Amino acid sequence: MRVVTIRTVGGEYEVHIGPGVRRSTRTLLPAGARRAAVVTQEGIGIDLDIDLESRTFLLPQGEAAKSMVCVEELCSGFAEWGLGRSDVVVAVGGGVVSDVAGFAAAVYMRGVAYLNVATTLLAQVDAAIGGKTGVNLAEGKNLVGAFWQPTAVVCDTDALSTLPPRAWTSGRGEVAKCVFLGGLLGLSRDELADYERSWLTGLSVEEQIFRCVSVKAAAVSSDERESDVRALLNYGHTLAHALEGLFLVRDDADVLHHGEAVAIGLMFAARLAHRLGRIDAERVEFHREVLEHFALASEIPSGLRAAELVSFMRRDKKARHDLTFVLDGPRGVELVRAVPESEVLATLADMGCSR
Ligand SMILES: NC(=O)c1ccc[n+]([C@@H]2O[C@H](COP(=O)([O-])OP(=O)(O)OC[C@H]3O[C@@H](n4cnc5c(N)ncnc54)[C@H](O)[C@@H]3O)[C@@H](O)[C@H]2O)c1
Repeated sequence: MRVVTIRTVGGEYEVHIGPGVRRSTRTLLPAGARRAAVVTQEGIGIDLDIDLESRTFLLPQGEAAKSMVCVEELCSGFAEWGLGRSDVVVAVGGGVVSDVAGFAAAVYMRGVAYLNVATTLLAQVDAAIGGKTGVNLAEGKNLVGAFWQPTAVVCDTDALSTLPPRAWTSGRGEVAKCVFLGGLLGLSRDELADYERSWLTGLSVEEQIFRCVSVKAAAVSSDERESDVRALLNYGHTLAHALEGLFLVRDDADVLHHGEAVAIGLMFAARLAHRLGRIDAERVEFHREVLEHFALASEIPSGLRAAELVSFMRRDKKARHDLTFVLDGPRGVELVRAVPESEVLATLADMGCSR
């Protein structure tokens, strides 16, 4: 088992990674809890031995579950059952479950403890860690939420054996992002080059998860709330969120899953950085190589208008009414504000969007 400690202003918690670690879940529950509200989805079927009186609450599938309605239904269910302030919510699932159950835990009785048993690759490398919880609005993704840290995160690699192929692909999008974030680990320039290359050497899934969690721990620990360091975790995400937002309002969220959109966003960020003179063509090529290594598509779906995507990008939470991106450059990946709209539109057009 590998353990990564996440340090936040409110305290610290552990992420347990490895085969069979879900069996240690009962040891990670908060002392004093008598009841556990297990929030999950049909078809996940992870057996837990949590040694508390428990009740299961099922969420619907997909982004539809990330709604205020589902949060209200969950909280009503908790109240009806009698879940108390000292009890615990246990989220068993992917990013959808941890986002919704975490948000419900954050607001139910002004906050009850919750524990994440992450069962998708994406949740194990990213969504279950760091305390960002929330739901969507019709106007866009993750527009309502709270920072609410779990008491622990369990990443059992055995749980991934039943994962559908698309969930693997989506998870690999977030893994690919971490290849470029070694700077957060404090590596020197020479070490960084070796670190990035080492990702392409066939690492075990457990090692990949450990590395991603370590990157996330470094960012979250230095900067729990969103500011410049934590924002680096959003590499590839400005376009990804725009794509997801656009398909969400079209009621077609299944076109691109989160990590698939991030993969496209990574390619876009590399091409934009190149256009802005921040990186050379070889570096763009390395991005392509990484995406190919992880079997990720990097093309923007056809038929999209650049201007429409830009209007979604302006709503990005990193932006302050300007166009803000996380971009690679001579000092590594960093936050770049006030990127000219003309450069963004031109990069999108280069990638096949209509003007
Ligand atoms: N809060 C954060 O920091 C953060 C970070 C990244 C992504 N997210 C959010 O995460 C969500 C995506 O998460 P996801 O990719 O895990 O998708 P998901 O939660 O929708 O899970 C994908 C599918 O796999 C199923 N599943 C889960 N575990 C399984 C298992 N072990 N075996 C079989 N099936 C299983 C789920 O029921 C679902 O049908 C998005 O809403 C995204 O916005 C949040």
